[in-house]
Amino acid sequence: MRKKIVAGNWKMNKTYSEAVPLMYEIKDLLFKSSKSESVIKIIAPPYLYIHDFHETSKGLKNLFIGAQNCAYEESGAYTGEISASMIKSVGANYIIIGHSERRSYYKETHEDLKKKTDITLKHGLTPIFCIGETKEKRESNEHFNVVEAQITDSLFHLSAEEFKKIVLAYEPVWAIGTGLTASSAQAQEMHHFIRSLIEKKYGSGVSSDISILYGGSCNEKNAAELFACPDVDGGLIGGAALKAKEFVEIIHSFPK
Ligand code: 13P
Repeated sequence: MRKKIVAGNWKMNKTYSEAVPLMYEIKDLLFKSSKSESVIKIIAPPYLYIHDFHETSKGLKNLFIGAQNCAYEESGAYTGEISASMIKSVGANYIIIGHSERRSYYKETHEDLKKKTDITLKHGLTPIFCIGETKEKRESNEHFNVVEAQITDSLFHLSAEEFKKIVLAYEPVWAIGTGLTASSAQAQEMHHFIRSLIEKKYGSGVSSDISILYGGSCNEKNAAELFACPDVDGGLIGGAALKAKEFVEIIHSFPK
């Protein structure tokens, strides 16, 4: 079943003493809102806070914790890395993989992301796999090719059973943190393209079940229009996820 999902990617923001009250504030607002119960809500804080946040999230329906990255190795002498099994052991259920900031600043390749997806699934966690083109690629009309390659090269080795467990997030790089949002027409066009790629490879049963989130300057003002698109199943939120009220308003933005 296709799910409605809103995930907050906190990126490298908030010290511990800032993060804990924010998490409580979000939880309190969600407690008061019956509207948000059926929406899957995910908070992906820095690794250090996952354990605490998982404890705090208990008792609230459909609230889960995610990590922003993981190592592709199982364990061993990889100084500074965090494994999928460690992430699972502190209570997270989701791992964001292939965020454009990781692709560009840390040079993560399609092959790296394929391995990260595999290890995430192996440990029974859900990858939130990010895809999206740069401004340059959109302007040269190569955006569909870029997104197709990102999906094909890192994900199409999966079986249909495995693929069904993934959540996709289309995040055009030019919209991330820039205040420039894809129009609902641009988002719908790309989400529909992604769903048809999946249909060609895995059939309509899988393609209609996959949740595809939009990310990139999504906020409480534009979320309703984006979430009204037939192929947009929710959002992956950066900046607006760091403000409790705005984040919860985004969660309330699905059509009735
Ligand atoms: P912004 O919402 O700040 O543009 O960030 C989007 C994002 O990168 C979420 O992963």
